[in-house]
Amino acid sequence: MASHTVALVPGDGIGPETSAAMQRVVEASGADIVWDVAEAGAHLVEEHGTPLPASTIEAVKRNKVAIKGPVATPVGTGFRSVNVALRRELGLYACLRPVLSIPGAGGRYDGVDIVIVRENSEDLYAGVEFEEGSEGARKLIALCEEEGAGAIRPDSGISVKPISKAASERIVRFAFDYARRHGRRKVTAVHKANIMKHTDGLFLRAAREVAAERAEDAAFEERIVDAFCMNMVMDPAQFDVVVFPNLYGDIASDLAAGLVGGLGIAPGANIGDEYAVFEAVHGSAPDIAGQDKANPTAQILSAAMMLDHLGEAEAAERIRRAVRAVYAEGAHLTADIRKATGSSKPAASCTEFTDALIAAF
Ligand code: NAI
Repeated sequence: MASHTVALVPGDGIGPETSAAMQRVVEASGADIVWDVAEAGAHLVEEHGTPLPASTIEAVKRNKVAIKGPVATPVGTGFRSVNVALRRELGLYACLRPVLSIPGAGGRYDGVDIVIVRENSEDLYAGVEFEEGSEGARKLIALCEEEGAGAIRPDSGISVKPISKAASERIVRFAFDYARRHGRRKVTAVHKANIMKHTDGLFLRAAREVAAERAEDAAFEERIVDAFCMNMVMDPAQFDVVVFPNLYGDIASDLAAGLVGGLGIAPGANIGDEYAVFEAVHGSAPDIAGQDKANPTAQILSAAMMLDHLGEAEAAERIRRAVRAVYAEGAHLTADIRKATGSSKPAASCTEFTDALIAAF
């Protein structure tokens, strides 16, 4: 088996705990991974002046592949989110979030197997904002009035929603490529083009064009985002690969995670042309940090995605099999899952869960 070096960014909050659990499980899977550990997080601000030191970005670039724990965004310090900064710096334009039912994890549905593909670089997350009363906001309001584009109240704050043809085509192509490579049958594009004709409308037109070129890869369908949410709650099994502009993709990821058992089991990846960073959907969970209570499943399943990416499909599948076995058996599940399943059995710690997982290999 080939040896791979990957950057490991444990992060903060529960990150160091879930990362340590993940490392133990990857080792037990038989994969030969060398960890190049780099730091990110609010605890570095005092010493480095930033939660994301240049050496950490360098470590990811050097190894091309990274797995990271969550990193809290310090509120009120003026620092940009580490996650947004990393995605920008490394050109990670696609956010990939598989949503899979795990029997025993307390999901509302069985048989869900959806892959969410979220555009990661633009939309309302571009960070272009004007505070209410600022010169920028006043100018924009005046421009809209001049253009007859509709009245905006003078005390409005404004966030700009840029959506480009190039980035829309790129993400939809990514979704079709993924569908082809993984034997998926259908790609659904989600939008609100009936209201936002020049942004979501552009995304939808790009999606239709790419779909027409890629008809051999997968079938194509469209859903308006509000209808999509209702469809998800009523019958999520109807979806396969679903591609979104940034904001809807973010919201839909959490919605989907909630349907199959919650954030504790939802893995993810941020992927670009050169680099890939694997990470759970959840945040740093400061309410349970340092207490050995966190559910490491999401980061462990993110590691399985990483192993697939590295060509170590067998080790990845061994991990997924062990996860399914521990949930099916049900004796060593963490507090979040006990709550989701309404079980009064005692909760396992992060360490106990990880021990059980390793014993299931
Ligand atoms: P969160 O995901 O950290 O927590 C939400 C709730 O879910 C909390 O009750 C938490 O205890 C629970 N939870 C989350 N992950 C869990 C796990 N693995 N096991 C058991 N319970 C878990 O979201 P929140 O509170 O909105 O954000 C906290 C911090 O995390 C913020 O500073 C935010 O900016 C950051 N964040 C970082 C992300 C990343 O690094 N990728 C993603 C999302 C948020």
